[in-house]
Amino acid sequence: MLSERIQGEFNVHINHELYSSYLYLAMAAWCESKGLRGFSHWMRAQSQEESQHVMRFFDFVLDRGGDVELRSIAAPPSAWETPLHLFEAAHSHEIEVSQRINALVDTVLSERDHAANVFLNWFVNEQVEEEATFADVVARLKLVGDDGRGILLIDQELASRAAAAAADASSA
Ligand SMILES: [Fe+2]
Ligand SMILES: [Fe+2]
Repeated sequence: MLSERIQGEFNVHINHELYSSYLYLAMAAWCESKGLRGFSHWMRAQSQEESQHVMRFFDFVLDRGGDVELRSIAAPPSAWETPLHLFEAAHSHEIEVSQRINALVDTVLSERDHAANVFLNWFVNEQVEEEATFADVVARLKLVGDDGRGILLIDQELASRAAAAAADASSA
């Protein structure tokens, strides 16, 4: 059984993962409107991955006998100045998510909920990967600067990202 406090904080986090999915969907739309189909494809896959994060929390709360309470999702921005600005915003967002996961770990440790701690460990590792992945694209966008050909090369590369794997397949 989840404590009231953990249930409340996990429900807030479900909303935040939904916002992540929404944000990357907005980014996918903007990229596509600029002719950057590779960037758009990459952000669509990222949005799906965030939906899978939602479902991990959703299932965990229910498996532990808790209640899922879905709340309104904030509207994400709809425009960015450049692909670099967009990816910098996404990278900052991931850093914020990592901080939120860390705060959740602090909560479950203080409540001595070991199952919740093991559950969150997956997210702790995932966030290391997420931050590194976004930082990598930011670094390459900085390298090419305003060079349109460079941006198109990155666009081609991002087009090859595979769709997000099924949530339970990646949890092994
Ligand atoms: Fe996430
Ligand atoms: Fe993420």
